[in-house]
Amino acid sequence: MKADLIITGCSELHTLSGSDGPRTGREMMDTGCIEGGAVAVKDGYVLDVGTESHITGKYRGEREVDVEGRTVIPGFVDPHTHLVFAGSREDELVMKIEGKTYMEILGAGGGILRTVRNTRKASREQLMEEMRARMDRMLAHGTTTAEAKSGYGLDLENEIKCLEVIRDIDHPLELVPTYMGAHALPPEFDEHSEYIDYCCDTVLPEIVKRGLAEFCDIFCEKGVFHAEDSMRLLIRAAELGMKIKVHADEIENLGCSTMAAELGAVSCEHLVKSGPGDIEAMAKNGVIGILLPGTPFMLMDNEYSPAREMIGRGMPVALATDLNPNCWTESMQMVITLACLQMKMHPNEALTASTHNAARAIGRNDIGSLVPGKKADMVVLDVPNLMHLPYHFGVNHAYMVFKEGVQIRPPKTY
Ligand code: NIG
Ligand code: FE
Repeated sequence: MKADLIITGCSELHTLSGSDGPRTGREMMDTGCIEGGAVAVKDGYVLDVGTESHITGKYRGEREVDVEGRTVIPGFVDPHTHLVFAGSREDELVMKIEGKTYMEILGAGGGILRTVRNTRKASREQLMEEMRARMDRMLAHGTTTAEAKSGYGLDLENEIKCLEVIRDIDHPLELVPTYMGAHALPPEFDEHSEYIDYCCDTVLPEIVKRGLAEFCDIFCEKGVFHAEDSMRLLIRAAELGMKIKVHADEIENLGCSTMAAELGAVSCEHLVKSGPGDIEAMAKNGVIGILLPGTPFMLMDNEYSPAREMIGRGMPVALATDLNPNCWTESMQMVITLACLQMKMHPNEALTASTHNAARAIGRNDIGSLVPGKKADMVVLDVPNLMHLPYHFGVNHAYMVFKEGVQIRPPKTY
């Protein structure tokens, strides 16, 4: 039979075959590994996977790639990024080294609000070119799909500008848009609840009318948006047909993850301070926890999300970069190293969390595994086995990246 592409010579082919829903508990350990595996691709989709003799015995490839003993995995899915922003905040790293907290920097007009000022001033073209450079780096590090949140424009005009940049960029990395206007209180408002009214009455309906976002997210945190305001916005978003996510339990626990779970959120994100009751509520409602170990790392905090407890209690867990000016990495490989070392996730669990579960956390069922019928988004890692990914850290192991069966050559080598 004819295939467009055949990949052979995989020392390990991690197919992530298994159940189609978000995976929990022991299921996260099973990455569907085929030693000496091969893949056949047709029309951008996986046609078949199996042992090399099975694939080469059955298919002839238009193109055949022998990866010579490397490891092949599905493309990484990064389900939580703040991808559209202008400028940078490297000087705040020094402030953090000198002992200032994230909330002190935000309270003094730095942090998110400083990026809001830069983003409001930036043209669409500038935002798009800055975002493109990040997307090039993401793809070069093996990420083939990512979620992208707005949230540095805040007002109607600037949130639409950011979401249109996400919609309009022409790039092989696929993006899933999230409206996150409730990321900080904009300077033109005095009261958080008034701003939430504005988001509910003015911004959300317009975003929905224009079809600019699939998800709605909010930063539910002490000193930012409290639980009641957060719920008000999320309920309104759900009424308008959006799926919901929430930044919850990051610095303080305001009870937001439990409330969001009861509201039917697809995911709760950050979750450093989640307690056993919250984990129970999220597990019971099938909420996917998106854990972002790069964030405590960049905040120089020694506390990370209780991943072991979450997995142990049957909560599906995903991993993401949180890419933003406070925590700037395009590398899911770096996140996997942090997840394994700081949260004691097994490399197999970390892979499930960065592919299959990450895809489900952004409502995608056609990516995240290499089984017949799924998109042929694949990364060839220049390592003999998966364990090298967290173990050999701080370098880029992505050797070849395929999006829908097409090899992507990044414009630069990273
Ligand atoms: O997810 N926590 C809120 N928002 C981002 C940080 C944004 C920023 O500092 O610019 C986060 O970590
Ligand atoms: Fe975030």
